[in-house]
Amino acid sequence: MAIILAAGISQRMNTQLAKVLHEVCGRPMLAYVLDACRQVGVAKMYVVVGFTAEQVREQFGDADDIVWVRQDEQKGTAHAVLCCKEHLKDFEGETLILCGDGPLIRAEMLKTLIEKHRAETAATLATAVLDDPAGYGRIVRDVYGNIEGIVEHSDCTSEQLTIREVNPSYYLFNNKILFEAVEKVRPDNVKKEYYLTDALSLIIATGHKVTAVTAVRPEEAMGVNSRAQLSAASKIMQHRIQQVLMDSGVTIVDPDNTWIDARAQIGQDTVIEPFTYIHGVVKIGRGCRIGPFAYLRGGTVLKDDVVLGVFTEVKNSTLADGVRARHQSYIGDAAVGQNVNLGAGSITANFDGEKVNQTRIGNNCFIGSGAILIAPLELKDGSHISAGMVVGPHFAKERKMGTV
Ligand code: UD1
Ligand code: MG
Repeated sequence: MAIILAAGISQRMNTQLAKVLHEVCGRPMLAYVLDACRQVGVAKMYVVVGFTAEQVREQFGDADDIVWVRQDEQKGTAHAVLCCKEHLKDFEGETLILCGDGPLIRAEMLKTLIEKHRAETAATLATAVLDDPAGYGRIVRDVYGNIEGIVEHSDCTSEQLTIREVNPSYYLFNNKILFEAVEKVRPDNVKKEYYLTDALSLIIATGHKVTAVTAVRPEEAMGVNSRAQLSAASKIMQHRIQQVLMDSGVTIVDPDNTWIDARAQIGQDTVIEPFTYIHGVVKIGRGCRIGPFAYLRGGTVLKDDVVLGVFTEVKNSTLADGVRARHQSYIGDAAVGQNVNLGAGSITANFDGEKVNQTRIGNNCFIGSGAILIAPLELKDGSHISAGMVVGPHFAKERKMGTV
């Protein structure tokens, strides 16, 4: 079982949108946390949501493994856990607790946390050591190295502020002991909130064993509480996405000047040139050459050996093997056949002011520079459109180039 805390108001984000719906590389933060749980075999996730509950539920639909739990008033992380009591009070076993604002979580870390947890232990938490621990709860240990508790940044003494070991909020609790403890938490702190971190000191005070394993890399410890942290987390995630792609045989010429959505798939030996922006569910085949300055949007499927050059934008379109659009093209809502050449500046005019229309271009067509293809339009295999032509549905009919 897992409890995921996602009800916070997030004053620091200054937003109307639920914090956990803010996107990191194209996906809401919460999606990464749910994925990590699924990867380590968590059967049910109790996601605590607050005033933006409907927004969040809408995005995630009715997944079988999610139970949505309401926390109407955000009184703190311990209170959020307590909201799950009616669902979990009788559960005998271990409960993971994670935060929805921690998108950099990795399944490997959760695996280590679960492996290190011992049945006789009341709770195990994974910690990180940071060069700059500002803002995080500090792990306070006794002289033997045993954990004594967690002190929130705003409640730290000046000495505690120098502790670099922090709480990234990755915990595994014995479920029964957890609920006994969270009920006893009191809001005795600067923010007057019910802190989950206080449950740990209460558990230790009753003689139970709590262990802390330093299993979290600094880069995956980050909780996103502000727009600046959102962009920092996105940067780290972007690096991870590109690393995976490069390991799978994709060349990214200039990683710092390339942005690739977490949902994109790219085939072997494809080269991504600088300043390429890939956003949304995009599938790129093998041996393609994309960019520089290409913009690929959701619903784009490129088969193999496609070449897209400078200032070429593709949206919701499928381009078959060997299509070339090397300069300043816009291809939207189109199906483009094999080996089609789209000349410089040729575009599909897919929007007529009211609705978006489809363009179908057959195999081996030549579309001259500056041609405008007004959708809806279908061009037969081998059609030749001269440079500068404006081709609409009627034109195509007259010239028997295709059907509408
Ligand atoms: C929390 C931890 C801190 C840790 C940090 C790591 C506590 C008291 N502190 O602090 O030790 O270093 O995370 O990122 O737990 N939430 C609710 N309901 C509430 C309050 C919060 O669901 O009433 C959710 C938030 O949406 C968020 C998570 O709990 O996803 C953590 O809350 P947040 O306010 O971000 O806590 P931090 O100050 O980051
Ligand atoms: Mg936080």
